Amino acid sequence: MTAPDLPAELKAALDARLEGLSRSDAADRAAAISKTYRDGGGSSAIRAGTDALAYALARMPATYAAVTASLNALREVNPQFAPKSLLDVGAGPGTATWAAAEAFSSLQNFSLVDANRALRALALDLAGGSVRLRELDYHQGEARAALADAEAADLVVASYMIGEIGEVERKALTELMWAKTRDTLLIVEPGTPAGYARIIAVREQLIASGAHVAAPCPHDGKCPLQAPDWCHFTQRLPRSRAHRLLKSAELPFEDEKFSYAALSRAPPTQRPARVLAQPVATKVEVTAKLCTPDGLDIAKVPHRAKAAYARARRWRWGDAVMEEG
Ligand SMILES: C[S@@+](CC[C@H](N)C(=O)[O-])C[C@H]1O[C@@H](n2cnc3c(N)ncnc32)[C@H](O)[C@@H]1O
Repeated sequence: MTAPDLPAELKAALDARLEGLSRSDAADRAAAISKTYRDGGGSSAIRAGTDALAYALARMPATYAAVTASLNALREVNPQFAPKSLLDVGAGPGTATWAAAEAFSSLQNFSLVDANRALRALALDLAGGSVRLRELDYHQGEARAALADAEAADLVVASYMIGEIGEVERKALTELMWAKTRDTLLIVEPGTPAGYARIIAVREQLIASGAHVAAPCPHDGKCPLQAPDWCHFTQRLPRSRAHRLLKSAELPFEDEKFSYAALSRAPPTQRPARVLAQPVATKVEVTAKLCTPDGLDIAKVPHRAKAAYARARRWRWGDAVMEEG
């Protein structure tokens, strides 16, 4: 499985661009961009090259980690999947493209689409030093218009993107992204109730169009979680020194909460239960909240069931509970 930290090549490229940049200016820009996001303004605050770089330094490690965790879950359920082509919608600095390239050595063609000129320029600059990514094709424009003319791809990804468009637009874009998906469409969103609600809307829309959920759900039925609960996961990632300075953060790591759905054309051959929260392990038993093909289950695995207890002690939030073979 792929590690959640940025590939060395990408990290070095970002660090090199940080040299010569005023840390306080970059931190101010990153803070202003974060505020615009919190206020629902999306990527509109990213205009200059410095804004794009500040965004990438502040957010790329976390969105990369979330996409990587989602792709790892997909690969675990479908180890045969070996996509040759990728379409990254709302690609920004190319985060999901880098994550997919790491996850799938089979990928040969990389197509990216985004409306933001500054983020596209940064993505091309960062990818320029990578042997695999330097030939990528990055179209600047509105996603719907750009996708209408795009070639279909084996893997289509929209990472932290659909929250930036309205509901009507989202439905139309979802239909279009699915039309361009040969095998699997992955949507990743922030792990908030609102992000989850968008994932569920896309999931329901595409299941009605014949899609099957490869991950995280072990079924194509209605999500069994009831508000105020929502399905989300967390990925821990290391914070580099530059990352810490930019975010005025003390801790050497951060935990990124995310929600996701990987939807495939073919039904998955295995549908493992999914761990929906960090299990509680005592000397008596392991208690874990699982999403199973039959709905929600609070599993209790007693210590006396020795082998099963030992396995359950290793379960982590987000894991697939694979059958022992
Ligand atoms: C939060 S950023 C995420 C970037 C990248 N996918 C990542 O995970 O780091 C959202 C991206 O979606 C792009 N975007 C939003 N609405 C768009 C649209 N209608 N057409 C094309 N790109 C759009 C923005 O320009 C921005 O680059």
